[in-house]
Amino acid sequence: MRVSVEEKHQVVTSDWKQTLPVLTGRCVRLRELRVSDAPTLFSMLTTREVSRFISPPPTTVDGFERFIEWTHRERAEGRHVCFAVVPEGMDSAIGIFQLRQLEPTFTTAEWGFAIGAPYWGTGVFMDAARLVVEFALETVGVHRLEARAAVANGRGNGALAKIGAVREAVLRQSFLRHGEYLDQALWSIVKDDWRQTKAVWGSIIH
Ligand SMILES: CC(C)(COP(=O)(O)OP(=O)(O)OC[C@H]1O[C@@H](n2cnc3c(N)ncnc32)[C@H](O)[C@@H]1OP(=O)(O)O)[C@@H](O)C(=O)NCCC(=O)NCCS
Repeated sequence: MRVSVEEKHQVVTSDWKQTLPVLTGRCVRLRELRVSDAPTLFSMLTTREVSRFISPPPTTVDGFERFIEWTHRERAEGRHVCFAVVPEGMDSAIGIFQLRQLEPTFTTAEWGFAIGAPYWGTGVFMDAARLVVEFALETVGVHRLEARAAVANGRGNGALAKIGAVREAVLRQSFLRHGEYLDQALWSIVKDDWRQTKAVWGSIIH
């Protein structure tokens, strides 16, 4: 069946510094984090497989609550956006997508993401990622969206390639994790690339 992306992906524009809009995809909803998301985020994002290649997540439920409150303050200041990933039929967050400005106008930004391992390979990533990229480029005003992924992080790099990001460089020994300096790949999406990718998705998704 051919399905128009425009029909299925709903991106709502709002004053995101006041409160984040709810973005609705085919199988996920993205919304502002709630302090009540802390227990599920703690159980989903602190496992070894999820946290292996990312900055260390909080180590307690309280720590996640403080992180969530911090994201609200950063959003209000217009520096940072953090969406909760909520699969269809659920109420709690099973992952997050973050977007942070790399300079004060937010035209260059960096994104990062983590999803609970039970949801890997389910389509949740792609659905959420499309919504976040669209939100960044069309609502926040980002022109260039960067991501860094440890070279050894197969799924992270595979996911970025799949969303249409371009691998630009290797940042040697740029990330200290578990006492070891890791090389990272630098990926980017620029607005013109995205328009072309969307044109392809607009004709068919599968
Ligand atoms: C990154 C993350 C959000 C991606 O979500 P996901 O559901 O695993 O992603 P998907 O399965 O949709 O896509 C990953 C792709 O990488 C591919 N892949 C998996 N292992 C791979 C490897 N070792 N080398 C290359 N590609 C690999 C998968 O086959 C898949 O591509 P396909 O759908 O064409 O088969 C999730 O894996 C995660 O939360 N990881 C832990 C946190 C993290 O590393 N975040 C990224 C920081 S940049």
